[in-house]
Amino acid sequence: MTTIIGLCGSLRRGSFNLMLLHAAADAAPAGTSIEIESIREIPLYDGDFEAEHGSPPSVDRLKRRIAGADGVLIVTPEYNGSMPGVLKNAIDWLSRPPSDIGRLFRARPVALMGATPGRGATALSQAAWLPVLRSLGMRPWFEGSVLISEASTVFDRNGRVIDAAVQNRIRTFVEGFATFVEAQRGSRLVAAPNVTAGSPSNHDQPRPPFPNLSLSPLVSASSDPSPAKS
Ligand code: FNR
Repeated sequence: MTTIIGLCGSLRRGSFNLMLLHAAADAAPAGTSIEIESIREIPLYDGDFEAEHGSPPSVDRLKRRIAGADGVLIVTPEYNGSMPGVLKNAIDWLSRPPSDIGRLFRARPVALMGATPGRGATALSQAAWLPVLRSLGMRPWFEGSVLISEASTVFDRNGRVIDAAVQNRIRTFVEGFATFVEAQRGSRLVAAPNVTAGSPSNHDQPRPPFPNLSLSPLVSASSDPSPAKS
């Protein structure tokens, strides 16, 4: 059985994103289970609390669930053109201490979906997650997309998807991601050891946004006012 942990970035009872996550779970193909986990009990990250008590039980529980799964499906609202703070906070807790990043996140398959009653379809929120996934060394699946706009016309009162075309899109997305997760199962265990994200030795240090692109030549070129003399 392939297990995918589904996380919703909204705590709202009538959340469209939770409806979308349930629709995704219902569309999982045979042999794949999407298991929905709540972030409701996770407190605000506080470094002092962490130093005194370690991580809270709600965080430890979610860590165990993710560590025992094969992939993660993030279903995200968009707040002010970015990701919701509650879910970013949960991911931040999960990434502590940095020595846990490797086993929880590194090379772990992840996909993004999102729904909004507005017209932007969570495109900005989904894009805002990308640096976070990169920082954690996750393995995002980009071969499909589910970006739902005008969500109040997409779901009925019971949270079911009304439109057959949207339902098909969700099913196609979930099937594609499940196939990817299944294919990554073996390779995750032998993920390249030189992946910088997730390494406890460097995760608390400032890093350039893209490790393969060194910014220093640009800086030194512009900081040298004297042209080369012949
Ligand atoms: C929003 N909403 C919103 N929607 C959007 O498409 N783009 C945005 O930038 C924002 N910004 C925003 C900020 C804040 C603080 C709130 C509370 C809301 C609207 C948002 O999409 C709407 O509340 C959704 O219903 C939230 O998702 P759930 O709870 O339905 O899953």
